[in-house]
Order: sequence, then C-alpha cells, then structure tokens
Amino acid sequence: EDTGTLEACPPVVTIMGHVDHGKTSLLDVIRESKITSGEAGGITQHIGAYNVETPNGGRITFLDTPGHAAFTAMRSRGAQITDIVILVVAADDGVMPQTVEAINHAKAAGVPVVVAVNKMDKVGADPDRIMRELSEHDLLAEDWGGNVIFVKVSAKTGKGIDELLEMVLLQAEVLELRANADRKATGYVVESRLDIGRGAVATVLVKQGTLRDGDPVVCGLHSGHIRAMIDDSGSRVESAGPSTPVEIVGLAGVPDAGDEFVAVASDKDAKQIAGHRMQKQRAKELAKKSR
Ligand code: GTP
Ligand code: NA
Ligand code: MG
Repeated sequence: EDTGTLEACPPVVTIMGHVDHGKTSLLDVIRESKITSGEAGGITQHIGAYNVETPNGGRITFLDTPGHAAFTAMRSRGAQITDIVILVVAADDGVMPQTVEAINHAKAAGVPVVVAVNKMDKVGADPDRIMRELSEHDLLAEDWGGNVIFVKVSAKTGKGIDELLEMVLLQAEVLELRANADRKATGYVVESRLDIGRGAVATVLVKQGTLRDGDPVVCGLHSGHIRAMIDDSGSRVESAGPSTPVEIVGLAGVPDAGDEFVAVASDKDAKQIAGHRMQKQRAKELAKKSR
C-alpha cells in the first residue's frame, strides 16, 4: 500500500505570542481576510486552519490557536502537528509573560521559532530591544551571530509580511519536511464539535497520505466514514493531501483536539479498531476508579 515516494510538503505553522501583540491581525493580513473585526472584543473565538500560497508560489498551512492552551493540550495528547512557531512580539511592548510561555512551549516541543517583530509602524517601536530581550531566552538573531530568523513586520501596513512568509519557507527547507501522498491518510484533529444538522464535525490536518471522500476512518475513539469534506475556503473537496486542513463529516462521535485519525481499509475495520480503543479506554477508567 505504501508505494509512493516522499515529497516536500507545506510546513504547518502556529502563531504564538503575548495578548494583543498581533497574532490574529498577522494571520488576517496573511490571508487578506478580516477575522479580527468580526470577533467580539477582538478576542480570538475559534481555532482555524488555513493553507496559503506565498508570493513565490510556496505553500504554508497556518493554525490559528486561540491561545497557548490548545497547543499544550495537543502536545499533552502526543500530537506534534506544528512544524514551525512564529513568535509575535510587539515592537513597542517587548517580551512579556506569554511571550516566554510561548518560547517554552516551542522549546519543549523541539519546534524552531521564527520571530515576527510586529507593530513596526508604531512610534516607539524598538526592534533592538526585542532582539536583546529574546537573546536572554536563547533566541539569538542571525544578525547577532545566532541562528534565529527575525523579521520586522507590521500587520497594520502589511510591511514585511511577504518576507516573513519567505523566511518561514526557508526555515521549512532546513527541516526537510517530507510526506507520501500515495497512502492511506493519517493526521490529527485540530478542532471538533457537535453540529445539530451534520452530527460530529472535525477539522483535521492530514500529515501523511491522502484523505478521500468515502474513506472509512478511525478518529480517536470513534469510527466513521467520510460523508463530506470541506476545505478552508468552504468548498466541498474530494481529497486532501499532506499538510491540508479539512473539515470532515461522518464520524460516529466527537473526537478531541489532538486525537489522531487514520484512514483504514473498510468500515468493518474502522468499527473494530474503534471498538477496541473504546474498550481499552473503559478498562483504564475502571482501573483508575478502583485504585
Ligand atoms: P489576542 O488574540 O487577544 O491574544 O490578541 P492578538 O495577539 O491576536 O492581537 P490582535 O491581532 O487582536 O491585535 C491587537 C491590537 O493590536 C488590535 O487593536 C490591532 O489592530 C493592533 N495591531 C496588530 N498589529 C498591529 C500593527 O502591526 N500595528 C499597529 N499599529 N497595530 C497593530
Ligand atoms: Na486581541
Ligand atoms: Mg487573536
């Protein structure tokens, strides 16, 4: 079954940083949409995943986590879905507690950091100060003899954004990310919910292989059969390759963020595997109670 060859795949990127340093604004300007303005109080309300094309024709998949909690929750479930972290630091504010938290998450996960020094348009922007403060957390800029890429940007004016994207691709090249599209898909759940009309709905990120409409799948403790796949622009699609986020419908239950999914040979296999997992889970819970 595993007959294909390994090919370069888009990096999966998470934007992290202190409150109000511009994570949502950056993501917005990157995909030229307007999530921030629609959010109640300008606070991120959801997790999204989007694939964008860079000016030079490269591709990057962005996960918009609503905070560090999602990243930590996924990691605690063993899900390593992020290849690169963009650390956003507001040039007029400096390194703050959640900046340090983000650095620690990235370090613990072994994920490289690209620093976006944001709000460069503001009076009082001091990128040297950001470089100095981050050097105290082992993030030493290339200009200072280190190996961390810093890019000065403004989510407000759009300045530096194209360079940021190209630098992310440069960092991705170093990582030599490869995937085989010619096999059954595996990946992770990014978000999930119960929809009144459609049942269990999950946004999944394909890591290996190609997920196809109609595929039998196991997702966390649940079996399923893909009844519909919707891409990041809201269109129905028939297939999704490596590093592609899609919303899937057809699972028998709602999985958790960070759960792994795998496409299997038949609905019977899917039910059997999910059944075993469910039994194991129940046994674990019983053992816990009786202790
Ligand atoms: P949380 O999700 O609440 O943690 O915030 P965030 O990091 O997503 O920040 P957000 O994008 O909501 O931006 C916070 C504020 O900073 C908003 O008022 C933005 O308009 C503003 N802002 C973001 N980037 C820039 C920038 O480059 N320049 C200027 N002048 N303002 C910016
Ligand atoms: Na905000
Ligand atoms: Mg936000």
